[in-house]
Amino acid sequence: MKQFKQEVAKAIEKATGKHVDLQDLTVPPNPEMGDVASKIAFTMGKNPKETAEELAKEIKPSGPITEVKAFGPFLNFFVDRDMFSKCVVETIISEGKNYGKGEKKKEKVMVEFSQPNTHKAFHIGHIRGTALGFALANILEHYGYDVIKANYQGDTGAHVAKCLWCMQTFHAGEKPPENKGKWLAGIYAEATQKINDNPEYEKDYKQVFHKLFFDKDPELIELWKKTRKWSLDEFVKIYSEMGIKFDVNFFESDVEQKGVDYVKALEGKGKVFEDDGALVIDLGEKLGVFLLLRNDGTALYSTKDIILAKKKFDEYGVDTSIYITGAEQKHYFNQLFAALKELGFEKADKCVHIPYGLVILPEGKMKSREGKVIFYEDLAAKAKELVLKEIEKKNPDLEDKEAVAEAVGIGALKFWMLHTSNNKDIVFEWGKALDFNGETGPYVQYALVRCRSILEKSGKQPKAGIVKAHDLLVMLSNFPDAVENAAKSHSPHLLAQYTYLLANELNKFYTTTKVIGSDNEEALLAVIKATEIVMANALHLLGIRAPEKM
Ligand code: ARG
Repeated sequence: MKQFKQEVAKAIEKATGKHVDLQDLTVPPNPEMGDVASKIAFTMGKNPKETAEELAKEIKPSGPITEVKAFGPFLNFFVDRDMFSKCVVETIISEGKNYGKGEKKKEKVMVEFSQPNTHKAFHIGHIRGTALGFALANILEHYGYDVIKANYQGDTGAHVAKCLWCMQTFHAGEKPPENKGKWLAGIYAEATQKINDNPEYEKDYKQVFHKLFFDKDPELIELWKKTRKWSLDEFVKIYSEMGIKFDVNFFESDVEQKGVDYVKALEGKGKVFEDDGALVIDLGEKLGVFLLLRNDGTALYSTKDIILAKKKFDEYGVDTSIYITGAEQKHYFNQLFAALKELGFEKADKCVHIPYGLVILPEGKMKSREGKVIFYEDLAAKAKELVLKEIEKKNPDLEDKEAVAEAVGIGALKFWMLHTSNNKDIVFEWGKALDFNGETGPYVQYALVRCRSILEKSGKQPKAGIVKAHDLLVMLSNFPDAVENAAKSHSPHLLAQYTYLLANELNKFYTTTKVIGSDNEEALLAVIKATEIVMANALHLLGIRAPEKM
């Protein structure tokens, strides 16, 4: 589409003497109103409707432009659809995986996401944050940024002490089952329950905390190391199943002491002062006072974040630093970024927090603290099981059923999280997320599989030509815009929604057009090939695997 927009921009520039940004050229709401729309008439200082009409008369069709028409204040252009269709398909097939890539940008962006805590559950909310961060990082990369994917795992703090206390007190000598990480998370949940119900336990687990993090008791440190690894091993397994990769793994335990040292040295500087033994920074009326260090000299969440931010800027040369977490941390990140600015960090303004809403099951809010958490493992198993049942019904002879069920099940989970705006809460219902006819992972995966099977069945070589498939081709030509919009607004859901619309257009095309055995088979196959490429690119950016067959 870009080539056509460029031609349109040139024609407008010639007639008005004004520069036209390609971004300001849009696609009209329906093809009867043309292929490219411009709002130039609003900027000419006269009545926009009259201006549009005058310009429509003045600009004569030439090159790919076949007609110029005013629709109210809009100036719309019709382009040669035969030329358009051939050009779109040729571009996509020749660019392949690179189709939709933005210009290389100088800026380095770090996206920090997932950030589970060891000794605790990797739950349904983590799936959302993990899918969101991975997709956003891929999209930004495709748009042209140099992107670093970072994880930051919480392997120290009160939750660790609670878990180890409960393990030593109530589960001494027990042999953990195969999935040790999950077992540990269960013990953590039990610990919080016990401490809630019996306030006298408070001092007991705090003793463990002290022994572990102050006295550095060798036996407890051994246990911490061993159990920490159980959780980390589990996370590795989850990431591999979810198809998630990181470039950098930060750990809270790594930045803890450095954070304390760094923050201590700030005392008395600027707006940092001591308050009742603790260190705080005054962030003004709106954000209040932000705690930097506890009065016993131990690290807070913020202590570690300050030094981590510094590390990201200094050691990794990050320009834009993105943090993806649950929406409950919004205020905290506002404070953190304001504190960084106050402390003189040059790039504090380029820190971005992207919050995401809750994931709720129909039976109610899941509360990790009460132990009613939905573990990744259970969800993934259920997803696979449900998809397997569907396969047994619809396609019992399929090869590799288990692997297909895994790709489709996990894909369904991820797509459901991704197609919703990050700001909204999600009510997760299996029936909806797995509906093969809804706005779902299986639906878009199936569209890709269908393209592949048509190409395979035909066996002929696709060759771009003149075809009647305008709506599908417009959709394909919009992919670079979909990537750009998702990247600029940090909204992977825009790309997820795009893949659904593309799948819809493919299905419409498929039901109205005979491809195999038609006179124009090679050219129609080229449209299918182009759709396959765009769909595969889109799913790849979203981090959704598609099986070869389903
Ligand atoms: N592990 C933390 C939690 O579970 C989230 C970490 C978010 N990132 C950060 N830089 N604070 O709440």
